[in-house]
Amino acid sequence: MTDQAFKLRELININSAKKESVPGDARIIAVSSGKGGVGKTNFTVNLAIALSKMGHSVTIIDADLGLANIDILLGLVPRYTLTHVLKQEKTLSEILVEGPNGIKIVSGGSGVMDMVNLSPTELNRLIDSLEHLNNESDYILIDTGAGLNHSVISFIQASQELVVVVTSDPTSITDAYALIKNISKLDVSIKVVVNRIESNKEGHDVFEKINTATTKFLKLEMESIGYIYEDQNVKKSVKKQVPFLVGFPNTLASRGVELIAENLVRNSTYSQPSGGFSTFIKKIFKNKQ
Ligand SMILES: Nc1ncnc2c1ncn2[C@@H]1O[C@H](COP(=O)(O)OP(=O)(O)OP(=O)(O)O)[C@@H](O)[C@H]1O
Ligand SMILES: [Mg+2]
Repeated sequence: MTDQAFKLRELININSAKKESVPGDARIIAVSSGKGGVGKTNFTVNLAIALSKMGHSVTIIDADLGLANIDILLGLVPRYTLTHVLKQEKTLSEILVEGPNGIKIVSGGSGVMDMVNLSPTELNRLIDSLEHLNNESDYILIDTGAGLNHSVISFIQASQELVVVVTSDPTSITDAYALIKNISKLDVSIKVVVNRIESNKEGHDVFEKINTATTKFLKLEMESIGYIYEDQNVKKSVKKQVPFLVGFPNTLASRGVELIAENLVRNSTYSQPSGGFSTFIKKIFKNKQ
């Protein structure tokens, strides 16, 4: 073998060894809230863009059973969902849509609910296709929708980390506490984002209210990963169907989300390696048994 060929082979070996050591390493983060309308979807989309700007590959799963929120925020046309994958009408790569900065979006649609009734063969098929996604992503963000329904809890249980979005509205705070109480026995690291603040003190006070209650009554300490200011450009960007990190990169809300992304990347206090998407799906499946 020539020197060059030898080097080439070594290089290929190194690359394939590298590849084998990474699969299944995506950080799977659920984004949820007690009360609806607090800014989860805007946060999820813009966090994905912030992480992507930092050089990470990000996939969003829109697991909100209501409207296709993420599609609307990104101005994407209605399209296929996980339901079509489960019915074998489409492959995962056919339903995957690319958003700004190369972020990928998977729409759950009613497929999220269909996961309840999968046969072992169907389950394996889904795991195989999602595993591929896992290998390609550093971060998988799941917009779970609001509230305490079974699907939301399953997605949280299957994730390693949960970001609870809350505002200073008292019902948002009490509903966030109710959500945290409900999932307090799960092995998931809980982080709090306070949205729509008028001052840092307000963000701090809202976080302290929640953390004091969870520490006292649930023996569970929350972690604050940042605040996002009330910002008129958020509404404008929703209207324009362009995420604020793209349309208004220097606005207050963008800076807030970027700081949160930096905090998340720096902070790796999550309970266990994700085990990838197969573990994720198996956990969801197990919850339904
Ligand atoms: N930081 C902010 N500043 C100003 N307005 C905001 C901010 N965050 C969210 N909003 C407003 O709140 C609205 C709802 O946001 P979003 O759709 O992200 O909430 P959600 O929690 O995903 O709602 P749902 O529970 O219905 O899915 C936005 O359309 C926007 O008008
Ligand atoms: Mg939403």
